[in-house]
Amino acid sequence: MRIVYVVGTRPNFVKTAPVISALRARLPEGRHTIVHTGQHYDRLMSEVFLEELGVPAPDHMLEVGSGTHAQQTARVMERLEPVLSTEGPDLVVVPGDVNSTLAAALTAVKMEIPVAHIESGLRSFDRTMPEEINRIVADQVSDLLFLHSAEAIENLRAEGVPDERMHFVGNTMIDTLVALEDRFRSANAAATLGVEPGTFVLVTLHRPALVDGPLLAEAMGQLTALAAAIPVVFPVHPRTRKMMEEAAAGHPDLHLCEPLGYLDFLSLIADARAVLTDSGGIQEETTYLGIPCFTLRANTERPVTVRAGTNTLLGLDPGAIAGIPAALAERADERPEPPPLWDGRAAERIADVIAGLTSS
Ligand code: UD1
Repeated sequence: MRIVYVVGTRPNFVKTAPVISALRARLPEGRHTIVHTGQHYDRLMSEVFLEELGVPAPDHMLEVGSGTHAQQTARVMERLEPVLSTEGPDLVVVPGDVNSTLAAALTAVKMEIPVAHIESGLRSFDRTMPEEINRIVADQVSDLLFLHSAEAIENLRAEGVPDERMHFVGNTMIDTLVALEDRFRSANAAATLGVEPGTFVLVTLHRPALVDGPLLAEAMGQLTALAAAIPVVFPVHPRTRKMMEEAAAGHPDLHLCEPLGYLDFLSLIADARAVLTDSGGIQEETTYLGIPCFTLRANTERPVTVRAGTNTLLGLDPGAIAGIPAALAERADERPEPPPLWDGRAAERIADVIAGLTSS
């Protein structure tokens, strides 16, 4: 069996790494080809992740870089098509919901190559989010849909997806976290940054709705005020850095830094008093680790994290950051049971399904 895995961004690497290694172990005679679209290209957004996750060097680098949605999507499609022609895969595997995911799924389906989508069926029901469009299209054109939470089943049924295409396997991002747990528990990233474990709020913000307009300056003002009560650690995504005014950070306990490697980042989550984010994956990692998470968005495609009790939706309202110290003082911190099948073995289940295709 020939399998092509298409990855492009930081979270793609995390979600796909365990699937590549499970399938290489299960199908050692198969051809496993990794294509990196180059949507993320800075060393800290790309190579560091591949190295830490033990992903072999990509076989093809498409180097599409940044651009408008149409440019980025079109470049991936144009550059991926000849690679798929040469490789002639039996299956193309795409993770998540980024522009590279959409482009790869569309390219493959138009070449009549079956597509497997990891992390299928998530919906925010907010079509102004670029990722929501990517999810809907990727799910519609994929043949194998790998679901990480039960609500995906109803989301997909509502869009007319037949049950035969769905496989509820669990969360491959949690597979990676479980596999790295010994290493990130001893990474001590907090000490390196000069903050005490258990005392700080870890922040990540990168979504266009928040950082591409005036809300970013408001959020920075709120974070400066928060830092007076609780130290704040904020590894800044390149998109956010580009939009951020230098004057924005104004407190010695507001620690801004470059994006971190995955081990250091997981170490910081595990040692944080709380996390404030607009990321999708971080809502899941905090749920697994039992760390309070405040999500600065109007909605989430991951309601399972809210039901688990770790995640609180603040709305798309930087003013709500001011309520975090009081909310933390009130909450009882318990590590909840992880959602079903978030157990470190999702990639094994995916490999079972895909390896089963070769024998049927
Ligand atoms: C993308 C995904 C988003 C995901 C995020 C994870 C889409 C539509 N968005 O957002 O869903 O949560 O990745 O990080 O696919 N840049 C660099 N260096 C890099 C990459 C980006 O400087 O290595 C800067 C560029 O200025 C670029 C901007 O960041 O224009 C945005 O990058 P882009 O890939 O368009 O989207 P992300 O915001 O990273």
